[in-house]
Parts: sequence; structure tokens; C-alpha cells
Amino acid sequence: APKAIIAPSILSADFANLGHDCSKTISQGADWLHVDIMDGHFVPNLTWGPPIVAKIRGHVEKPTEAYGKGTFDCHMMIAEPKKWVKEFKKAGCDLYCFHYEAAFSTAAESPEAKSDKKTSPKELIKYIHDQGMLAGIALKPATSVDVLWEILESEDPKERPDMVLIMTVEPGFGGQKFMASELPKVQELRKRYPELNIEVDGGLGPSTIDQAADAGANVIVAGSAVFGAQDPSEVIALLREAVEK
Ligand code: DX5
Ligand code: ZN
Repeated sequence: APKAIIAPSILSADFANLGHDCSKTISQGADWLHVDIMDGHFVPNLTWGPPIVAKIRGHVEKPTEAYGKGTFDCHMMIAEPKKWVKEFKKAGCDLYCFHYEAAFSTAAESPEAKSDKKTSPKELIKYIHDQGMLAGIALKPATSVDVLWEILESEDPKERPDMVLIMTVEPGFGGQKFMASELPKVQELRKRYPELNIEVDGGLGPSTIDQAADAGANVIVAGSAVFGAQDPSEVIALLREAVEK
């Protein structure tokens, strides 16, 4: 399996000290920052947009290689993922992870542009790659993992995702209960793709990490478990050990 990547979700950071919290979590051993983008439409919650992402980018050193330390892993819980690709690239996003469920939206390329053309997950992945970012595809709990096979097997490598995100809660809020019912998706993906980056997000922490790691996840998002801990560096180390054991 690929190496362990620990990605604290800054949804549980102190929003009044976001820049500080972002650089601190990296110095405490985190690999990536998981940046949750919510539009109040795809999910019933709102977070932040490109100006804030650009500001916090200034507090975290840019990765020197693909998947390197300081990667901004932007989890796009938005209804029109294609519309925001260029804006988030400009803001400093490194990995643009959109939801499969939203990928068939109208394919406008910028907030100003209007289009009636529908996009598809494979077209969107190619578009993200053409803009110079890594591409991820996320599945909500209700979505079958079977929708992914055709995408992962695309003949054009530019249409294949660099990461798959299996949600282990309903997207929208931090601090929810881990859904072990989602782990068979991770197992199935790992069985077929030994080298794929498989991310899990929602309810991960010291008491749930072993199940997720045993299923084959290697990219671990944790919000409340990291930012709520007495000693975040200890939790980050524990998550890493569970994946690498
Ligand atoms: C939920 C977000 C998660 C969230 C996880 O919609 O995608 O990234 O911050 O929070 P915890 O780790 O507290 O479940
Ligand atoms: Zn997330």
C-alpha cells in the first residue's frame, strides 16, 4: 500500500487564528491540510472560499513535490465543482477533490461564465489535471463504489483520479460518528488498486483508525480528533503508526 498521509481537517481549527493553526498542525507532524469547502447547497453548511484559502496558503510552505508536505487537499462539497477549478488553483489548492454526486452539474468554467453543457467525472478530472492540480473523487455514503470502476479504468491517464475519498460520515459537519458500514468500499478499492491513494474522512481518531487502516485506507483525515486533542502531535503519530503497522 502507498505511504501513510495524515491530513488534519481545519474545519475543527480556531477560525479566528486559522493561519496559526494551519502552520502549527504541520509542525506537529501533519503531512497535508484538509480544507473543507462547503457551499450551503451541496451540503447544509457554509465554510470559506478562495480568498481565505489564499490567505492560509501564505502560512504553510508550498509542497516541493506532488503529494509532499504542505499539500492543500481541498474537499469540494459544492454543487458546481467545475466552476471553481481555476479559482482554487489560483488560491493555492494542490489537490482538488470533487464529489461524484455533483460532477454532472452544468459545466461553467468560471463564476462569470454560463454554460448549458453537462460535464462528467472523467472530463472534470482531465480539466483539473490540465489546470496543474492533482484530482480526487469523493463518494457520499449512499453512493456505490461501483460507479468508480469505469473512471479508474479510463484509457486516458489524464482522466484517472490521483485519489479516491470514501466518506465515513454524511458530509457537512465535523465531530460526527464514524460509519464502519463504509469500509467495504475501501476494502474493495484496495483489493483492486494496491497503489491507489484512498482517503477516509469523518469520525476518524484513536478509536476508529485501526478499522480504517485494516480496510486499506492510507490518507487519513481527522478534524476534531486532532484539533481537540491535548497533544495533537501524539494523535498524528498514533494515526500514522496505525496505517504503517
Ligand atoms: C465533514 C468534513 C470532514 C470533517 C471531519 O463533512 O468533510 O473533513 O471536518 O471532521 P471529524 O474528523 O471531526 O469527523
Ligand atoms: Zn472533508
